[in-house]
Amino acid sequence: MSFDKFFFIILTMEELEQKRVIGLMSGTSCDSIDAGLCNVYPDLSVELIKGINYEYPAFVREKIFKAFNNELSIEELCQLNFEVGECFANASNLLIREFGKPDIISSHGQTIYHYPFDVKEDNLSLKSTFQIGESSVISAKTGCLTISNFRETDIAYGGQGAPLVCFADKQWFKNSAIQNIGGISNVTVVSDDCLPFGFDTGCGNIMIDYCMKKFFGEPYDKDGEIAQSGEISEYWLNCLLEDEYYYNYPPKTTGREYFSPKYIENILKIAPEKKEDIIATLTALTAKSISQSYERFVYPNAHIDTVIIGGGGAYNKFLMKLLRRYLPKHLELKTHEDFGISNNYKEAMAFALLGYCTYYKIPNNVPSCTGANKSVVLGKITYAK
Ligand SMILES: Nc1ncnc2c1ncn2[C@@H]1O[C@H](COP(=O)(O)OP(=O)(O)O)[C@@H](O)[C@H]1O
Ligand SMILES: [Mg+2]
Repeated sequence: MSFDKFFFIILTMEELEQKRVIGLMSGTSCDSIDAGLCNVYPDLSVELIKGINYEYPAFVREKIFKAFNNELSIEELCQLNFEVGECFANASNLLIREFGKPDIISSHGQTIYHYPFDVKEDNLSLKSTFQIGESSVISAKTGCLTISNFRETDIAYGGQGAPLVCFADKQWFKNSAIQNIGGISNVTVVSDDCLPFGFDTGCGNIMIDYCMKKFFGEPYDKDGEIAQSGEISEYWLNCLLEDEYYYNYPPKTTGREYFSPKYIENILKIAPEKKEDIIATLTALTAKSISQSYERFVYPNAHIDTVIIGGGGAYNKFLMKLLRRYLPKHLELKTHEDFGISNNYKEAMAFALLGYCTYYKIPNNVPSCTGANKSVVLGKITYAK
């Protein structure tokens, strides 16, 4: 029996209680803070009571993007940590006004930088990750115990600090690839054949969103309609699929640092002329990189019956159509909604679960997914005063 299972059984006997938890998540797309008020039960199932998408004020979002592009001073970054903390608190307070205080707020924070590489400087490791949204501000402005900074602990124990949602996926699903398509796309594989594993399959919506803004002045391709009206350039698609990231073996994670504006401007140099074709091909890239990564890293290791899509990409009809076309016919293609879990709030629900586990000292990383050398309790607790 694994250590965490053993630990969990001991704790279960020691009375875990149902808790009300607000899970807070903002991903690489930075489209909104997803706040989900949840009931978390002792069997580690989670029920969403109410979710809201709280948009950052435009000037905050602008600063976050500046931070992504390394265009903020340390002074501004210092301020932004507290500003974002206040936004997270405001999002929570909207729920609190309606439903009262939860037992726990569990905040992923806003990732500004993620560096999962084992590079050393004179024997000191540079592996690191940086999420902002100061938990002391969240706790002070809501009056709730706040749990935050999950990824750092996993990195400290030799992991990549990601993917963390695997922990929820392995509780909630069976024999499936659980594919999140946010800014970045990441998968968790849960199969009877092996320990759960997961990795980032590559780009999700980052490049689509970037080009929608650049060529159409829109934040994203609503329902995939522009992509649907274009034609996929097989030549450009195949060039893009040659990127070495797709060939690297898991565990692997990526982010905006890799699929940066510079990267996108570079690939646009050989893009098709019609802007609709660009969006269609980038959408195909997301779908094809997912299906190819399964061929390389999933099917040889694990039997799965179902692919379950979540995140904003699940609402892109053209992307879903392409996934159906590229994935083997015997696999069922579903979305989280088919399991009664919102595509929009799945990650907020997962962080509600992670926070619940931190509260009860239940190890909540999945070493087979992150590469950590130990199963540990992630996160830091800020008590309400
Ligand atoms: N109706 C929709 N049609 C197409 N794409 C959508 C739709 N809704 C959301 N998206 C895409 O999903 C992205 C947000 O997904 P999300 O899962 O919140 O990502 P992240 O975790 O990176 O914030 C948006 O930026 C957009 O590209
Ligand atoms: Mg989002």
